[in-house]
Amino acid sequence: MNFHVLTLFPDMVMQGLDTSILRRALDRGLIRIEAVNIRDYTDNKHGKVDDYTYGGGAGLLMQAQPVYDAWKSVQDRLPSKARVVYMTPQGAVFNQDMAAEFSAEEDLIFLCGHYEGIDERVLEEIVTDEVSIGDYVLTGGELPAMVMIDSISRLIPGVLHNGESAGTDSFQNGLLEYPQYSRPESWHGKNVPGVLLSGDHAKVGEWRLAQSLERTKERRPDLYEAYVKAHPPQERKRRVKRTNPS
Ligand code: ADE
Repeated sequence: MNFHVLTLFPDMVMQGLDTSILRRALDRGLIRIEAVNIRDYTDNKHGKVDDYTYGGGAGLLMQAQPVYDAWKSVQDRLPSKARVVYMTPQGAVFNQDMAAEFSAEEDLIFLCGHYEGIDERVLEEIVTDEVSIGDYVLTGGELPAMVMIDSISRLIPGVLHNGESAGTDSFQNGLLEYPQYSRPESWHGKNVPGVLLSGDHAKVGEWRLAQSLERTKERRPDLYEAYVKAHPPQERKRRVKRTNPS
């Protein structure tokens, strides 16, 4: 998977994604990330990429020309038309299903705005998806693009190792993840739940599902309701049996 990020702050993007699991994925060629500096494409001899908005109002707007030419420099190198994701609080709110959908693409172009946004005309011409990472406003699209790249990358086969499996993630089955414990068995007077020491895989599976349900009901009633609607009680029992090694 190739991520192409159109940005005014290429170092921020490259440095922010060059650690830990993503660094390993980059080293192994499972993902590639390039940050394209929009400023390199401006026709303005002073390197300007923004200007005042028509109609008045505070702040500067990124102009259409440098954004379009930066996008074209990437798109012209690609074998087919790539989706262009514009990071904006006005977009659809990003979630795990969207991460899974994007992870099937060969190339993805992210467009990061700054200042008051980007001239609408270039957005109309090149953007295929408008995505927000939540109902709050950031100073630019770089952090949202990095969030998306991280969550998409870990769904690409081979990026996570066995012990880091995405299969048990929160949201993967519509529920939050169950609590987990490592050594020692007792810490600060708190003991690991006995069932996890029992070696009984079926029992462990049942306990984990019950914990997931309880947590989701308490913390995310919206997810819980959707899950209960989609999984009548009988089916939930079968799921426990099916998903546990016997
Ligand atoms: N740009 C500024 N705020 C944002 C947000 N919440 N999501 C995506 N892009 C943004």
